[in-house]
Amino acid sequence: MSLFSPDSLSVDRLTPGEAAGELARLAALIAHHDRLYHQLDTPELSDSEYDALVRRNTAIEARFPLLVRSDSPSRRVGAAPAAGFRKVVHTVPMLSLGNAFAEADVAEFLARLRRFLTLDDGDELALVAEPKIDGLSCSLRYERGRLALAATRGDGVEGEDVTRNVLTIKDIPHVLSGADVPGVLEVRGEVYMSRADFLALNRDRSALGGEIFANPRNAAAGSLRQLNPEVTASRPLRFFGYALGEVSESVAASHCEVRRRLADWGFHLNEPARTCRDLAGLVAYYREIEARRAELPFDIDGVVYKVDRYDLRERLGNTAKGPRWAIAHKFPAEQACTRLLKISIQVGRTGALTPVAELEPVTVGGVMVSRATLHNEDEIARKDVRAGDLVVVQRAGDVIPQIVRALEHGADSVPFSMPDRCPDCGSQAVREDGEVVRRCTGGLICPAQALERLRHFVSRDAFDIEGLGEKIIAEFWAEKLIERPGDIFRLAARDQGSLKPLRKRAGWGDKSAANLFAAIEARRTIALERFIFALGIRQIGQATARLLARTYGTYARWRAAMLAVADDRQGPAWVELTGIDQIGAVVAGDLAEFFAEPHNLAVLDDLALEIAVTDAELPKVADSPVAGKTLVFTGTLAAMSRGEAKARAESLGAKVAGSVSAKTDFLVVGADAGSKAAKAAALGVTVLDEPAWLALLKGDGP
Ligand code: IVH
Repeated sequence: MSLFSPDSLSVDRLTPGEAAGELARLAALIAHHDRLYHQLDTPELSDSEYDALVRRNTAIEARFPLLVRSDSPSRRVGAAPAAGFRKVVHTVPMLSLGNAFAEADVAEFLARLRRFLTLDDGDELALVAEPKIDGLSCSLRYERGRLALAATRGDGVEGEDVTRNVLTIKDIPHVLSGADVPGVLEVRGEVYMSRADFLALNRDRSALGGEIFANPRNAAAGSLRQLNPEVTASRPLRFFGYALGEVSESVAASHCEVRRRLADWGFHLNEPARTCRDLAGLVAYYREIEARRAELPFDIDGVVYKVDRYDLRERLGNTAKGPRWAIAHKFPAEQACTRLLKISIQVGRTGALTPVAELEPVTVGGVMVSRATLHNEDEIARKDVRAGDLVVVQRAGDVIPQIVRALEHGADSVPFSMPDRCPDCGSQAVREDGEVVRRCTGGLICPAQALERLRHFVSRDAFDIEGLGEKIIAEFWAEKLIERPGDIFRLAARDQGSLKPLRKRAGWGDKSAANLFAAIEARRTIALERFIFALGIRQIGQATARLLARTYGTYARWRAAMLAVADDRQGPAWVELTGIDQIGAVVAGDLAEFFAEPHNLAVLDDLALEIAVTDAELPKVADSPVAGKTLVFTGTLAAMSRGEAKARAESLGAKVAGSVSAKTDFLVVGADAGSKAAKAAALGVTVLDEPAWLALLKGDGP
């Protein structure tokens, strides 16, 4: 196949007219080959042929910058960059679960359910307990009974299209059996590998001199995310169904019924499952499964308890973290014993110094561990952990491994003392009154802080720039190519004229460099909540960022409000901010501090030149009378708990605040209300009694 027209002119002899034509042809051609490569996995070009096309396109654009097309391969968000799978937005988000570790956590979960649903002591509440499989969750969409799409969980909102791979898994029906299959049916469950299959796979791989997988979970994930489905087909993957996503018609009123339907349609269920009615029942189930853990053919990391009735689930709803109606009860962490070689210090993005244990590598619960966190100096002193000690390390799920205790001190060991200077920039490291962490005061001059901030900025829940890893950030930072976030978006332009372009660097090639630039381009538009989170302001995690985004709606409004907060810690902006439920004076103070720092504003303004921040999406509640309004509850409602009332209000698009202010739209008053009603009256806030609130929920506006 000929890639260039026969008269393929050298770039520096092209006329503008010819260049424009050539750029159009290249855009279409490269798009075609991207699709073959990324989506169909049937590339027709070798890497070097493909790279030649991209190079030619880049060269022509460099000579005729005014002719760069809006659909140019250099600007295009690749069909699916780097990772190679098409992204899929889940119609119903794939949530994760809250965790319980101790029996007391389970008791608290049950009490919370009962409080929320205002159940009396005698009222029955059935939960279904199931093993918690350690694999990766997957959503299977069936249309008219036929598998139409399979997607990984991803970040819960957006996953990856792995349909072609999933079609190779024998446990997964291509066509559902049984009668009454809804037109659209999403089955959710876990893709996993049995322990025996995992061991056999590793044996084969090591016989062939290949790398082995650390555990069945990694093996399952690595096998599912293969660009070539034939590789997936050669791996012994299995599937359990345990939940539904989108369904076009209601299929059951309880989880028990859903399980029966799943089995009829041809799915395997995770067994043993059991319906339990109280704490004693749940705990007995947990203990039994824990005792039988080694006999089960697959790895589990705990059990899951789920409210059985769907109508109750509906009322309970979700928090940002996961459904209120379910919880994972985890098994205790796995432990191992090893030698602590040395204690090193890591500097985080807000300057916190964290002591890290460098360990003689050891396998803990199937995973090799060579580093563990020691949290802070008080913790080390309390446990008297020293370099050279024999220590107990533990690991639970995905959390960072920890040092539990020292078993014996090494010879000539001395107690650890925290440095009073930052190991990276040499600035003073101070510990403020009442704080356990010591912080580097170097701020902007501290390379560790700068790098950590950039790393956070591009991380998955922030700007999510795939391919911009730690190593390359550090390299660019040292060369002053990326010093602040805005520079990331100027990288492609800077790279073009560079003597040491990315594609020539160790570990990079034309294709990976082009993929990285495409991944960066794809993020020039970003949602407000991600943007706020990406800034890495102390204490502003994802949940708080979302809260801020929903409260202020637009970047401009948020920025203006935060400047006002920084300016006056008593003014109306401060009152509004601290009036947001779940935002207190400490978080508000951190926001104020961030916005009081001129350098941070410079970073924001610089970034604003490069990107567009989209307004926050309010929950879909078009015609709710309280959408966008601020509500405060006071006193006791008879029909529902405070928790349910708050959740209902939020699901109608309202914001719920803890105290009455000039920004309050409605005060809902239950029995035995305190002083808030008087304050509301003084401020002219609309006051609703319980019947008015219930009428409003039914859609009769106030
Ligand atoms: S129910 C809304 N049941 O655990 C989430 N999840 O930690 C409903 N998992 O993402 C999930 N076994 O991947 C459920 N029997 C089971 C499970 C299970 C494993 C996984 C699932 C989920 C994760 C949450």
